[in-house]
Amino acid sequence: MAVTVAAPSAVRLPFTERGPVSDAVMRHLSGSTEHVDHTELAQRAVARTPDACRDEDLALALFTLYASSYGSIDPLAPDLEWDPHLIATRQVLEHSLEEALRAAVPAPALPTAEKGAVARALFSLTKPSPGPSLSRHVATRATAIQAKELLVQRSVYTLREADPHSWAIPRLHGRAKAALVEIQADEYGGGRVEHMHSAMFATAMRGMGLDDAYGAYVDAVPALTLTSHNMMSMFGINRRLIGAIVGHLAAFEMTSSIPSRMYADGLRRLGFGTDVTDYFDVHVEADAVHEQIAGRDLAGALAEDSPEALSDIMFGAAACMAVDAWVDEHILDAWSRGESSLRTGALL
Ligand SMILES: [Fe+2]
Ligand SMILES: [Fe+2]
Repeated sequence: MAVTVAAPSAVRLPFTERGPVSDAVMRHLSGSTEHVDHTELAQRAVARTPDACRDEDLALALFTLYASSYGSIDPLAPDLEWDPHLIATRQVLEHSLEEALRAAVPAPALPTAEKGAVARALFSLTKPSPGPSLSRHVATRATAIQAKELLVQRSVYTLREADPHSWAIPRLHGRAKAALVEIQADEYGGGRVEHMHSAMFATAMRGMGLDDAYGAYVDAVPALTLTSHNMMSMFGINRRLIGAIVGHLAAFEMTSSIPSRMYADGLRRLGFGTDVTDYFDVHVEADAVHEQIAGRDLAGALAEDSPEALSDIMFGAAACMAVDAWVDEHILDAWSRGESSLRTGALL
């Protein structure tokens, strides 16, 4: 079906298209008056793509659609958020991404739907693997340019830190809701804007001479980095995936404390000050607490109260581990070849 757009003029987004689907979606969202059936384009592209998780065009199209709901990119008009054609395209892209993730991520064994058992299963799933580690590399060997790249790669999520999981708050009930709000209150600074983790990350970016405007580095990051963010947005914004967003948060918190200490140590080794290291230092203690709340009181309580969510809790955790490992692997592989991990080449 052709899309008719009433807005009279187009606005510029802070990033560029990567193929026909992202081009059509971005044009629609930025007020173009052209008539392009991006739903059909998306259907054709998802049928053709060999890997929806690494497809630059599909990942950017879905990222832009979610940016419309977050309000994270200023020029995106709020009255297009629920445009039925854009929602139809989002569903095509979401189904493709979910299908690819469920096919690529091995389904973990299910524990019994009891708090302690669920927490133990999640801690076991998220144990560090013995292979190469991005955080160890940053602690011991990364250059200042590589450290900057790390923040650029992380900025797609971390400048919006906590937002994807907050979609779950109204979708949860009772103990799990209370646990999620307890974690999120910390993420949002406990009432102090300067303590918001996203604001601390923005300070770290500025301390490294980077642009902290949301979207400034979207052109620089590969599809996998966008997919990592799209995955959590998809889990959060679809109520049917409530278990997956809860499992994702549990895995995210369980794999944050020790790497955060290594990132902070690496940044100190490179001579950066507390404006840059504070964000990582804060996460050493905060996430050691958050992982306990997320494992037992959030994921465990949800599994006890809604056992039908258990398999998606474990899937969400496994998907978080898998996709973030792919991203880290991409970065380490590029660096080991002496190349930049960014699409736009090394930052100067
Ligand atoms: Fe945080
Ligand atoms: Fe946290």
